[in-house]
Amino acid sequence: MGKYIINGGNKLMGEVSVSGAKNSVLPILAATVIGENKSTIFNIPNLRDVEIMESILLSLGCTVKRTGNIMEIDSKPLNQIVVPEELVREMRSSIILMGAMLSRTGEVVITYPGGCEIGPRPIDLHLKALRSMGAIIEESHGQLYCKTEGLKGCDIQLDYPSVGATENIILAAVKAKGTTVIRNAAREPEIIDLQNYLNKSGAKVSGAGTSVITIEGVKELKDVTHTIIPDRIVAGTLMVASTITGGDIILNNIIVEHLLGTIAKLKEAGALIYTNGNSLKVAGPRKVNSIEMIQTLPYPGFPTDMQAQMMALLSIANGTSIICETVFENRFKHGEELIRMGANIKIFGRVAVINGVKELTGAKVTAKDLRGGAALTLAGLVAKGTTEVQNIYHIERGYEDFHITLQNLGADIVKID
Ligand code: EPZ
Repeated sequence: MGKYIINGGNKLMGEVSVSGAKNSVLPILAATVIGENKSTIFNIPNLRDVEIMESILLSLGCTVKRTGNIMEIDSKPLNQIVVPEELVREMRSSIILMGAMLSRTGEVVITYPGGCEIGPRPIDLHLKALRSMGAIIEESHGQLYCKTEGLKGCDIQLDYPSVGATENIILAAVKAKGTTVIRNAAREPEIIDLQNYLNKSGAKVSGAGTSVITIEGVKELKDVTHTIIPDRIVAGTLMVASTITGGDIILNNIIVEHLLGTIAKLKEAGALIYTNGNSLKVAGPRKVNSIEMIQTLPYPGFPTDMQAQMMALLSIANGTSIICETVFENRFKHGEELIRMGANIKIFGRVAVINGVKELTGAKVTAKDLRGGAALTLAGLVAKGTTEVQNIYHIERGYEDFHITLQNLGADIVKID
């Protein structure tokens, strides 16, 4: 199952370039099936989730060529409508293939994605929106049978600014008849990246990054080349790694605007952060300050995907901090593992109270999900003694060679397969 062995105490120093964004490349790879065209995508991160999406595209009949961090997809030969069950179960976000496949073939069979470690993660908003665009969706035996005689544009008011639902609707609307307007849309930067990719192929999408996104249906899409934006959560995670170890690192290939929520909270924790174009320098304080309140919110609020990393940091702060997780139901599983390392954390539903301790001690801990696993690794960097993080396959879904990146910055960490 793979584990990291970490000996804590090293300050992280040096320079690192941030990889392409997982949560941007996944919807864009799904979007490549909409047209009968070629997509050349640059800055593809080397992640398990990308491998899964690549396998799905191949299983649908697309051709995929991977050269380093460049992926060339030709979706013209697509000839399947069933998305392999085992791949959907491994990566629930493949549900955004529904919108893309309904756009392309008018039909798709996809497994109902299970919940995952961070909560039930329903897809009711996805189904409601696609049905309002003319999709007939039947659920039986855990499978979703989706069909349409032709999707029609319409006005959709999302009950919640769901990232996945916003993306699914955009992909369904690209070739729908007429215009679709999404209100209360998610505003994440990855949706702007999806809009940019689609418009380069001839789609007509506008408003991404705001709460109102308009998509005018078009007939066909042309070949397109696109470079994925940097991963703001990988960048934020490395910023916490520098802060928690009292280190001093430079991150290159970042977009500062995407990091403002994280920068603000790390400055509250005492980090010194200087930005310059698409680079930033973050130096950790001698002693981490506690933070009165962190509330996770849809973008541009503080990102839920940075919550676990901040909990690890605040575990050694001087004072009491409060984290309120408003986005997911059950995203504090890393708390019990941090407690095994000596943290003093109390969880009350969606609220965690963290009483900072002088130091954490190394222990055997288990990653339960992607960001929680990253948080435990960060805690190991500063814990006294040796920490063993098990089930690191969770971490490798979203971090490219995480242990190598940390080793290059001076961490004493090895990976045992
Ligand atoms: C995306 O997940 C990201 N994943 C998540 O990143 C991220 O945490 C999340 O957005 C929020 O920013 C990808 O982009 C691949 P949501 P998604 O739909 O689309 C509820 C990571 O660590 N909801 O915005 O699944 C849902 O249960 C991952 O990289 C419904 O109730 O997130 C959750 O509580 C983790 N019904 C909330 O909305 C629906 O139909 C936010 O979910 C859809 C969502």
